[in-house]
Amino acid sequence: MGGVAGGRLAAAVSRAGGLGMIGVGTAGSVELIERESAIPREAALPFGIGLLGWAVECEPSLLDAAIDAQPILISLGFADIEPWVQRVHDAGILLATQIYDAKGARDAQAKGVDVIVARGGEGGGHGRNDVATLPLLQVVLDEVDIPVLAAGGIGTARGLAAVLAAGASAAWIGTAFLVCPEALTPVAARSRIIRAIETDTVYTRAMDVAMNFPWPTQFGERVLRNDFTDRWSGNEDDLIQEVGVRTALSRARDEGDFDLAEIDAGQGVGLLSTPRSAEEIINGFTDDATELLGRWTRTLGSQTTLELDE
Ligand SMILES: Cc1cc2nc3c(=O)[nH]c(=O)nc-3n(C[C@H](O)[C@H](O)[C@H](O)COP(=O)(O)O)c2cc1C
Repeated sequence: MGGVAGGRLAAAVSRAGGLGMIGVGTAGSVELIERESAIPREAALPFGIGLLGWAVECEPSLLDAAIDAQPILISLGFADIEPWVQRVHDAGILLATQIYDAKGARDAQAKGVDVIVARGGEGGGHGRNDVATLPLLQVVLDEVDIPVLAAGGIGTARGLAAVLAAGASAAWIGTAFLVCPEALTPVAARSRIIRAIETDTVYTRAMDVAMNFPWPTQFGERVLRNDFTDRWSGNEDDLIQEVGVRTALSRARDEGDFDLAEIDAGQGVGLLSTPRSAEEIINGFTDDATELLGRWTRTLGSQTTLELDE
């Protein structure tokens, strides 16, 4: 999660038994990669680095820096990843990519990706909005034979248990960690995130259009609704003409004015009610998912007994 997941959050997630990712978003730089990756590496913790493919196309040194940082996993997407697969593998690093439909999953496997992230439209941040997590996961699991991680809307152990029961190898989770003390989320954004309910997000390209970021047009982002999205989401053509919007949004991003600036968050934001550490979140996910899956197995067992008795 660019701008949210730095080395401190990645280290906390890995220390608790997950694999913490460092997000290198639109504001990413070689210096950021070096600084943030030093935190988990110096603590001898495994970590991953997430890069925006189109940013690597503009600035290839981002991938060099990510490889030099010695993560165990690099996530690349939002561009054709084929030119980078061999380089990442030659460095002994696993490669993940997010996909949004069955064709994307087949293509990623054919290109040699190690891990597929099946990301449904309810997820926070950038992606596509075409298919929700569960239908996507089901179709993708039948299409590929490499590990598939489920992403989008997994906010509690119930969601984790559901995707593991369906056959996902793990869950790839963002929004649930937004208000961790270890996250880089600005203070002014945290209270909005806590207050938000599950219907308070919108999928939009408005901010990217206003900022003139070179995101491929098939990708929008899921954000918390605010004055800016109410005014401009769906009116992007008019937005391009509007003088001064970019300056205003740019200033709002710098000053943390979230009536205008975006807060990336998925529909699972409604499940966030109190700030908890990464360790508490991960323990809650794993302990309760184990309990839920065990309960389901026991229910199945007792039904079989019933049927045999009859
Ligand atoms: C604040 C935020 C920033 C994100 N930044 C990135 C990013 O830089 N690169 C990326 O591939 N995905 C990014 N994502 C998407 C996540 O990788 C993941 O797909 C998503 O969070 C999963 O859905 P969830 O938010 O419902 O858990 C971001 C998500 C959030 C919430």
